[in-house]
Amino acid sequence: MSFPEIRPRRLRQSSAVRNLVRETSLEPRQLVLPMFVREGISEAVPISSMPGVAQHSLDSLRRAAADAAEAGVGGVMLFGVPAVRDAIGSGADDPDGILNVATTALVEEVGDALVVQTDLCLDEFTDHGHCGVLRPSTGSGTEPEIDNDATLERYVAMALAQARAGSHLLGLSGMMDGQVAAIRRGLDAEGFTGTLLLGYAAKYASAFYGPFREAVDSQLQGDRRTYQLDPGNRREGLREALIDEAEGADIVMVKPAMGFLDVLREVRDAVHIPVWAYQISGEYAMIEAASANGWIDRRAAVLESLLSIRRAGADAVLTYWATEAAGWLRQR
Ligand code: PBG
Repeated sequence: MSFPEIRPRRLRQSSAVRNLVRETSLEPRQLVLPMFVREGISEAVPISSMPGVAQHSLDSLRRAAADAAEAGVGGVMLFGVPAVRDAIGSGADDPDGILNVATTALVEEVGDALVVQTDLCLDEFTDHGHCGVLRPSTGSGTEPEIDNDATLERYVAMALAQARAGSHLLGLSGMMDGQVAAIRRGLDAEGFTGTLLLGYAAKYASAFYGPFREAVDSQLQGDRRTYQLDPGNRREGLREALIDEAEGADIVMVKPAMGFLDVLREVRDAVHIPVWAYQISGEYAMIEAASANGWIDRRAAVLESLLSIRRAGADAVLTYWATEAAGWLRQR
């Protein structure tokens, strides 16, 4: 009798066999493109720490979204970069604010082909860069603190402005307690029962958000550790996802993606709604930088990173490579 009897390599002998037995698929429709639109510019401005990604003007935004639709991408997630900021983020719920104006423009341009989504958070609109409004410290500290419940009122106003602008899906990224329930109630009371809610349930306070801070011209001093999750905590991420599902989220998110694949798998196994993951700016920047140095094969690394996030349990992935990756996937 020959040895070994069990030969798992038989399943890897040719690309035809490998294609047939691959457990995980990656399709353009499972990708969502995050996009930045900046007030007051007439041409796209490149973001140096994210080569290939730009802050868009309204015109370049429309063109890039049309390209994404053409490539078969599932949706776009819009972030606004306002010209003026204040303590409560007034630009966020102003119907003439950049994010709301851009949303209407995009829905008009691609609204039948793509799910047009909007980031619902105050950090791009506040002059202190936090995701909520501040109040004087109530504890032992001297620093101002985030007023959770006052922030919820701002979020509801922002949700209504985004829904009125035509957003199909609101991305609740602020990590305030009760945000999903408060926003669902606020929308339903005004008749927006069809507006989808994505809860950024397990959003970790990550060092890998660095390039995003450039992308949105963030004013943040300090950090977000009193509201975003501690990277050491797996159970707590799961708890947040279960809370968001119970509060009525239609979809939940794990973010960042690659450092938190274990959390992603557990959340996928625990909830009964779609689970998405956000491959964030720092993940993008690392692969771009290594590729630019010739240290890794860019296309292979990008596709492997996306496949890995899908394998860990993401039903869809937010990625800055969405349009390009969709193009590659369609060629295959
Ligand atoms: C906050 C927000 C952040 C990102 C998306 N939404 C930044 C933060 O929490 O500091 C990061 C996305 C990325 O890094 O690509 N509204």
